[in-house]
Amino acid sequence: STDHIQVEGSSSLWRADCRAKGGSPGFRVAILGAAGGIGQPLSMLMKMNPFVSVLHLYDVVNAHGVTADISHMDTGAVVRGFLGQSQLEDALTGMDLVIIPAGVPRKPGMTRDDLFNINAGIVKTLCEGIAKCCPKAIVNVISNPVNSTVPIAAEVFKKAGIYDPKRLLGVTMLDVVRANTFVAEVLGLDPREVIVPVVGGHAGVTILPLLSQVKPPCSFTQEETEYLTSRIQNGGTEVVEAKAGAGSATLSMAYAAVKFADACLRGLRGDAGVVECAFVSSQALGLLSSQVTELPFFASRVRLGRNGVEEIYPLGPLNEYERVGLEKAKKELGGSIEKGVSFVRK
Ligand code: NAD
Ligand code: LMR
Repeated sequence: STDHIQVEGSSSLWRADCRAKGGSPGFRVAILGAAGGIGQPLSMLMKMNPFVSVLHLYDVVNAHGVTADISHMDTGAVVRGFLGQSQLEDALTGMDLVIIPAGVPRKPGMTRDDLFNINAGIVKTLCEGIAKCCPKAIVNVISNPVNSTVPIAAEVFKKAGIYDPKRLLGVTMLDVVRANTFVAEVLGLDPREVIVPVVGGHAGVTILPLLSQVKPPCSFTQEETEYLTSRIQNGGTEVVEAKAGAGSATLSMAYAAVKFADACLRGLRGDAGVVECAFVSSQALGLLSSQVTELPFFASRVRLGRNGVEEIYPLGPLNEYERVGLEKAKKELGGSIEKGVSFVRK
């Protein structure tokens, strides 16, 4: 029986509900696509996050199996499973943060844009549910192609009249995680000491690491710059090829998603100085943020706070190599954004 993980009809759950409602501090988080390659380790890691009091795991397959498994972990969050479209609204009601890793992954030879036809519709449907049931939630979009699925989410929210650009964030954290790792390797440092801003978007040349702004300050030869830029831009493909048809990055992605979700939750609870890279609307802060680029969406360093994106930082001084990269990135990004927008408007 799956009674013990259903929302209703279980005394053990009723007590858990009391605990969740009874002033237990923490946030209510839903993961959509929780039974997938990313979804499972992401659900496990969010169950370990001390800021989370309620964790809703939604998928169209195996949601109850994953929920039963994770619910046995002796950490604070109360876990509930939701299976299939008919339970989407229950999964979303009351959520503070919704993380979306639902959708198909790449196989060797595919681009992220090749996933558009399937994933666009999945993200659209899930965002319609969010608009209806938790319009104030912060939304973290992982499903590819991120450069198009974030604009899709924005259009769905606009249609529903609830769009708040500060609350919608495309997750590009894996690019930063990879950049920190690869740069640390070249410099012979511990990756935890390295911070690399990665801006633009989340596909091929739209992934633009700003190696001139690495912390701690350092310099690279032209050869190192080209090697690092290419490795960071092709990190996803490196994993897709190594998995040889069995999917794309899941474990490093779950790690990156939790690092990013944790930053969003720290922002929500009012911590100062929470800054991460994310793919956000250039209108998130009105005219101020449109100074980053002329594109309607762009990944850059943002400060996270009680309302989501509180500040978007300018790109800062770029060297010639980065300026050329930025022009290439903007060209491709513009088309991907437009594709997402017209998918919903058509
Ligand atoms: P997966 O196939 O292992 O898992 C996807 C899950 O989504 C499955 O459990 C599936 O049942 C579920 N799903 C499908 N349709 C759904 C719907 N309508 N509602 C709810 N759930 C649904 O794939 P994965 O490896 O976990 O990757 C998921 C997505 O994340 C892919 O699009 C992939 O390209 C993307 N991704 C993004 C990044 C990033 O950096 N943003 C990194 C890695 C992967
Ligand atoms: C990644 O960067 O690993 C993801 O976007 C998955 C992919 O298709 O490469």
